[in-house]
Amino acid sequence: METVDRANGAWRPLEVNERGHLVIGGCDSVELVREHGTPLYVIDEARLRATCREYVDSFREFYPGNAEVIYAGKAFLTMGMCRILQQENLSLDVCSGGELYTALQAGFPVERLHFHGNNKSPEELAMAVEAGIGRVIVDNAYELDLLDDLSQRAGRRCDILLRLTPGVEADTHSYIQTGQVDSKFGFPMLEGIALEAVKDALSREGVRLRGLHCHIGSQLFDLASFELAVRLMFDFIEETRHAAGFIPEELNMGGGLGIRYHKGEPSVRPREYVRRLAEAVRKEAEARGLPLPRLSVEPGRSIIADAGTTLYTVGSIKHIPGVRTYAAVDGGMADNPRVAIYGAVYEATAANKAAEAATETVSIAGKCCESGDMLIWDAKLAPLEPGDILAVHGTGAYNYSMASNYNRLPRPAVVLVRDGKSELLVRRETWADLTRLDVIPAHLQSPVLQP
Ligand code: LLP
Repeated sequence: METVDRANGAWRPLEVNERGHLVIGGCDSVELVREHGTPLYVIDEARLRATCREYVDSFREFYPGNAEVIYAGKAFLTMGMCRILQQENLSLDVCSGGELYTALQAGFPVERLHFHGNNKSPEELAMAVEAGIGRVIVDNAYELDLLDDLSQRAGRRCDILLRLTPGVEADTHSYIQTGQVDSKFGFPMLEGIALEAVKDALSREGVRLRGLHCHIGSQLFDLASFELAVRLMFDFIEETRHAAGFIPEELNMGGGLGIRYHKGEPSVRPREYVRRLAEAVRKEAEARGLPLPRLSVEPGRSIIADAGTTLYTVGSIKHIPGVRTYAAVDGGMADNPRVAIYGAVYEATAANKAAEAATETVSIAGKCCESGDMLIWDAKLAPLEPGDILAVHGTGAYNYSMASNYNRLPRPAVVLVRDGKSELLVRRETWADLTRLDVIPAHLQSPVLQP
């Protein structure tokens, strides 16, 4: 599938029209900018749906009839996105009251919602119980108490999984490692803590323990880490079988498959990941004489990242002789904080010069008031001028969802493109949106200091 783009030497297969403009979802990117402005998040609907289908079809192929693909909403969630997921028969992992609210507002089937979080508030849990949530993934003993109590008082029994930390140190940035024992997430599998949690959950009237969950990290390519996590989960299941008579009906292996942001990274397709995971589960279950559990995964990034592109307008270009050339765009860390937080590396294309050779090295800066606000160091691009359109690729995951109003920048619009047409998923924030929630306290009504 990979083709080497003739213009910028990147690995991404880019579509370029006869005007030399980058095309996304059949739309000329320059026209998209004319219509919607910049910065602009663009989501390619066909690409998004194709990845959803790759996941669903791969489970059909390798683990037929007993699997669930649960999209991790934290990567990117809007009401329109909920509709696409629903149409593609995916379930949805929500990790806050706000994500739950978004899904409910969109009319997403509540039985397909899985509620995550390491510190769900009583209000959030009540909202989930009230809605009749599909699963709560219980993270800790405090939450188990709260949920049990809330459910009983509501006259309900809530289906739960317990989140465990299997002790896998995944090979990724430490901020997005989650499966190691020293983690704020889940019940650690040591000193009998996880086993006690299982026994405790089984004794409760307000919850029904359906199974177990783990998530070892994010942006991972080494499928052996997932296989190791499967093995450790099954080691634990043997323990719960003997010590508590408990065999989980469901096993949720979390998310974490990486995507190739730049040439230096590998590429692992969801189909390969699902195949290896399914084989590992089958092997471990058979070796222990255990029934096959319902198997689920929670991919976020690998579903949405590649479907997203951010378009910017280039403004000031600063050439520091013998040092570096900076080209500043009209966005930055407010719409993509991943570079500042994780040192993430992105690739870009001059969208209005996409057929021109990438002959210059230029660093792409944002417009926020700090030096760390960089989008790409030493990008290879066609020569840039003010007014050019820059496309940063692979920004569908954890960009819009992590965007802020830092420096009081309005958040960009998000458009969905398909067959040459674009439609809004999220409208652009206005100046008025920025002050919408501000309150001037009563004693400050006068602009002049009162004696
Ligand atoms: N399930 C759970 C319980 C998670 O905590 C996460 C991600 C996922 C699934 C989805 O993981 P994915 O398939 O997207 O890797 N902001 C960071 C990523 C944080 C991931 C947090 N949890 C970033 O921009 O790289």
